[in-house]
Amino acid sequence: MLRRLHPHQPESFAFTPANLAWAKGQITKYPEGRQASAIIPLLWRAQEQEGWLSRPAIEHVADMLGMAYIRALEVATFYFMFQLQPVGSVAHIQICGTTSCMICGAEDLVAVAKELIAKQPHTLSADGKFSWEEVECMGACANAPMAQIGKDYYEDLTPEKLRELIGRFSKGEVPVPGPQNGRYAAEPAGGLTTLKEFASSRPKYNASAQLAVDLGETVKRIDGTEVPLTMPWLGKSAPAKPAAKPAAPKPAAPKPAAKAVEAPAAATPAATAGGKQPKALKAARKGKADDLKQILGIGPKLEQLCHKLGFFHFDQIAEWTADEIAWVDNNLEGFKGRVSRDRWVAQAKVLAAGGSVEEAEAVARA
Ligand code: FES
Repeated sequence: MLRRLHPHQPESFAFTPANLAWAKGQITKYPEGRQASAIIPLLWRAQEQEGWLSRPAIEHVADMLGMAYIRALEVATFYFMFQLQPVGSVAHIQICGTTSCMICGAEDLVAVAKELIAKQPHTLSADGKFSWEEVECMGACANAPMAQIGKDYYEDLTPEKLRELIGRFSKGEVPVPGPQNGRYAAEPAGGLTTLKEFASSRPKYNASAQLAVDLGETVKRIDGTEVPLTMPWLGKSAPAKPAAKPAAPKPAAPKPAAKAVEAPAAATPAATAGGKQPKALKAARKGKADDLKQILGIGPKLEQLCHKLGFFHFDQIAEWTADEIAWVDNNLEGFKGRVSRDRWVAQAKVLAAGGSVEEAEAVARA
């Protein structure tokens, strides 16, 4: 299946303040120089906020992580969990079409989706409230056929039940997830055969359904205010204020410090030294700059910043001394420390000598 960006894209994307604080917190989980590891949680959060991943959202996340756009795009287009087109404003319905569900009637559920939502998957319903797709096994085979609606599973479905669920969601209700045929969980359809003594003391719904009922947010978009932000790996158990400067590290855990992602090198020796400004150019030679984005870690924003500072060519970067690296590291607004972190000079040397992007990348990762 071809996975492409949607032809109609919004102008821009921004995390809500609370989601931004959450995203910055996630980045601090990874060691210095490995912030790109946070790509999936950040893309996922962007999707939870908007319902789908737009190009501006993918690029925004790439900028936060200092990644080339193509790298972020590769991740977003590879994993089917990322929706690359708008989804229903109320819910995106994912119907399992794998063996157990297929045998138990998934095709009839798909027929309902086609009739009530849209003939084709990944298409909005006429009122924009719903979209649907067929997905692979979601691990609830004992409750086949099933569908994920929003964040929860609706199991033991029949066409009539799915029809009813869509109608209720459409009216703004949030039906209780879990088995829809009276079963408590995944016990035999004929009733419990073991552990019967616990049946009378169990909660009203099984654990997953009960949690969904307690949260009451099955199909709600996540703006970050739902659950207090905690970052136990930084010794933070209290909610962090959005946009607040991260607290100083605890003495016992000095390193991965709560550094904001924009200033990853603030504590590195290179960045704390003042450094010496490298020779800059007023403009690219012969009006043609090198494609600095070939250096792993430089995205469009950083390339613009380099141009602003007078750096247009690989051979300029390749000649930077330690002092000059320190100066540039300190003067990359919002991206401090990226030169040392991503080994720009070593990469630039390879590219200036006519080496390939892959060879430069290998140097960066060495
Ligand atoms: Fe549908 Fe496993 S086959 S959940």
